[in-house]
Amino acid sequence: MWELNPSRLFKRLRYQQIASIRDDALNGVAHSQKVSQRKSTLYILSHIAISCLCLLVSISFFFSKYYHEVSDEKCVRRFSAPSPAMEAVELEWLTFNDNFQPDEYSGYPSATSEKAWGALWDFGAFTVPLESLAGLNKSSMTGDFRLVGSRPDAGVGGLLEGAHQIHCLNLVRQFIYRDHWDYSKLPSFSGGEKTRRHHVDHCIETLRLVFSCQSDVTPYYLVTGHGGKTESRGLPHKCRKYSKLVDWVNSHSVFDTVE
Ligand SMILES: *[C@@H]1O[C@H](CO)[C@@H](O)[C@H](O)[C@H]1NC(C)=O
Repeated sequence: MWELNPSRLFKRLRYQQIASIRDDALNGVAHSQKVSQRKSTLYILSHIAISCLCLLVSISFFFSKYYHEVSDEKCVRRFSAPSPAMEAVELEWLTFNDNFQPDEYSGYPSATSEKAWGALWDFGAFTVPLESLAGLNKSSMTGDFRLVGSRPDAGVGGLLEGAHQIHCLNLVRQFIYRDHWDYSKLPSFSGGEKTRRHHVDHCIETLRLVFSCQSDVTPYYLVTGHGGKTESRGLPHKCRKYSKLVDWVNSHSVFDTVE
């Protein structure tokens, strides 16, 4: 026989009630655990995504900087005609000495000065590859080049233009001092007075064109010196190391210029 026992029922109810509260609580805890787990996963994932993005941006910045870095070498190549001597170009900052100090290149000619000037320009020719002729507005088809060796594809002979220009300056110097040194044996002094003058004039013209072509924009600034006199002073110039080019030409010489 069933008998309603209120205390049991109450107990059960209470028990159930508690159980249901606990279940709910447990479910709630599990649910909130799941939510917080999901949240933390999302949190980690978003952190990874942001980190990846940062890394990607940094890498692309690095490469764009790497590829757009304007090096001296790139500038030199951009502002010069193609030449195999390019690999020997090194730049340096140089302030010319304005306080005139006599050196081996200056004054009345001597065996020392002639030798020193000769070492600045009197070199052999180097090989200019045929591929670079197009960049020099020339074609190997023109056929009037002095070839290097017997094979036509071996390249053509070339001199360093900078050395040719120094040769011109040297010729002007020798012409000035022609009564103080015997230059009669030099090829540049061969021919009569008219031919010599023509050669010197050609050199002055060459140097005028070189200076205006390269037109150094370095300011030549003015100072007020002693007694209120205005004087000018040079500032550092960006220069090519000439000695590096001389070394390069000497180590790449394929034939002498005067044969
Ligand atoms: C390039 O060569 C052509 C044909 O010889 C000539 O007409 C032209 O003036 C040259 N260009 C330069 C910049 O010297």
